Amino acid sequence: MAKTKIAVLISGRGSNMQALIEAAKDEDYPAEIVLVASNNPDAPGLEVARAAGIETDVVNHRDYEDREAFEEALDQTIKLYGARIVCLAGFMRILTPWFTERWRDLLINIHPSLLPAFKGLHTHERALEAGVRIHGCTVHYVRPEMDDGPIIGQAAVPVLPGDTPDVLSNRVLEAEHKLYPQCVALACSGKARVAGERVRLQAREFGAELLMNPHD
Ligand code: GRF
Repeated sequence: MAKTKIAVLISGRGSNMQALIEAAKDEDYPAEIVLVASNNPDAPGLEVARAAGIETDVVNHRDYEDREAFEEALDQTIKLYGARIVCLAGFMRILTPWFTERWRDLLINIHPSLLPAFKGLHTHERALEAGVRIHGCTVHYVRPEMDDGPIIGQAAVPVLPGDTPDVLSNRVLEAEHKLYPQCVALACSGKARVAGERVRLQAREFGAELLMNPHD
C-alpha cells in the first residue's frame, strides 16, 4: 500500500506525535512519518522521535530575522523530506497566511477543545470557568485564523465534579491520542476531503469513531 508521507511539527513534549508514531507502525496505516521538526531545539519530543528511528530536524525561529524567513525555511525543510501532509502537534508558533495557504487542505492541527469553543490557550481552565459539562478536542484543517478551519473529527469527554485543569487536561489528552491518528489516517487516505469549507467524510466513516467518547 502506498503511504502518504507526513511531517509532524512539535514544540514540546510531543505526546500526540508519539500517538502518531505508534499508529504509523501498523502496516495498514496510510501514513508514514518522514520528519519530526521543531522550532524548539530543546523539545523533549525530538528525543522520543529519534529513539523511534524517525528523522528529526530543528528550524529554530530565533535564527531567523522575521516570521517570513522562518516559515520559508520550515517550508523548505518539510519539502526536503518529501512530506505531502503536515500535522501540527503542539507546535507553538502562529503561522502566517503565507504558510497556511501554501499548505491549504494539507495542514492539520489538533486543538484541546470542542471548537469553535475555547480557541487559543488555557482551554481547560476556561472550560472549567465556563462550567461546561462536556469538553474535548478537535482535529481540523488549518486556515489563516487561529484554531479555525474545516473540522475532520472531534472527541468529547465529560467534565466531572472536582476536576482541576490538570485532571481535565489528562482526560482530554487521552482522547486526543485516539482522535489524532484516526483523523490523520482519514486525511491521508483521501477519506476526509474539504468541499465548501466542510470536511466531507467518506460515507462509511461518518459517525463512527469520529464522534467518540473514549470512556464508552
Ligand atoms: C495538546 O493538548 C494539543 O491539543 C495542543 O497542544 C498540546 C500538545 O501536547 N495543540 P503534546 O506535545 O502533543 O503532548
